[in-house]
Amino acid sequence: MTEIGTPMANVTVRGPEAPRNLEALDPVFTVSDLSVFYGDYEAVREVDMLIGNREITAMIGPSGCGKSTVLRCFNRMNDLIPGARPAGKILYHGEDLYGDHVDPIEVRRRIGMVFQKPNPFPKSIYDNIAYGPRVNGMKGKMDDLVEQALTQAALWDEVKDKLKQNALSLSGGQQQRLCIARAIAVKPEVILMDEPCSALDPIATTKIEDLMQQLARDYTIVIVTHNMQQAARVSHRTAFFTAEVDDKGVRHGRLVEYDETSRIFTNPTDKRTEDYITGRFG
Ligand SMILES: Nc1ncnc2c1ncn2[C@@H]1O[C@H](COP(=O)(O)OP(=O)(O)OP(=O)(O)O)[C@@H](O)[C@H]1O
Ligand SMILES: [Mg+2]
Repeated sequence: MTEIGTPMANVTVRGPEAPRNLEALDPVFTVSDLSVFYGDYEAVREVDMLIGNREITAMIGPSGCGKSTVLRCFNRMNDLIPGARPAGKILYHGEDLYGDHVDPIEVRRRIGMVFQKPNPFPKSIYDNIAYGPRVNGMKGKMDDLVEQALTQAALWDEVKDKLKQNALSLSGGQQQRLCIARAIAVKPEVILMDEPCSALDPIATTKIEDLMQQLARDYTIVIVTHNMQQAARVSHRTAFFTAEVDDKGVRHGRLVEYDETSRIFTNPTDKRTEDYITGRFG
């Protein structure tokens, strides 16, 4: 592993886009000058941000501004998309996430992902959870690993008597908690969530939000959400992205403002953030 000085040293801080209270941040990720291309198209431009350890960071902004694109860079999911190419730097604990010696499979074990639509395997509840630990050759009694992950995901009580049942028989909200349990089972450090509640009803959404706050004691969470109340309720920091049209008429996603959530929602620095959070735009 190469030690690249203090992570902060690698960040270019830009005027009003600069996050506040950086000193308080113990960054897991340090993103500097990140642009992401799909072929020749630059979907997101020049993003600088830090992701704090055991914090919940929310990414908000209108459709197409590049939230999912940036999120997928954090665990190299974009590697799996033909033509997708990040430029700039993402350090993970000070180490280049895209360095030659870095194994993307190991990256995805340490940095798990939960998607918009719950996607359990068409297997039993038990096997959904046991799959990752088995593939990774994790030590320990499998029954205990499964119980622990389901307990942490606040699902154990609802499923403990039917572990052999097909996971697809669960409700949408239960399936999403199962997917969170599956992500936790391989003992990651970070959980990325791309609109994890958008297919769920308000009660299931509340359960996932409560769960996220529980999980933030042990994990670092980055969540993309269209629900601003959700970002305001659960996150410590919020990044507001928007898409801007350049002089050739091409749209590029930009990070407009990144700050403590309370500040973004009460006293944002940038007019574009204010317009978005007050519903005047987007
Ligand atoms: N696989 C891909 N190939 C080419 N372009 C893509 C691909 N995925 C996304 N894009 C483009 O990149 C830009 C950002 O897309 P992205 O999905 O990251 O936005 P988003 O903010 O997550 O939007 P939404 O809120 O609708 O999910 C968009 O212009 C989109 O069309
Ligand atoms: Mg998206």
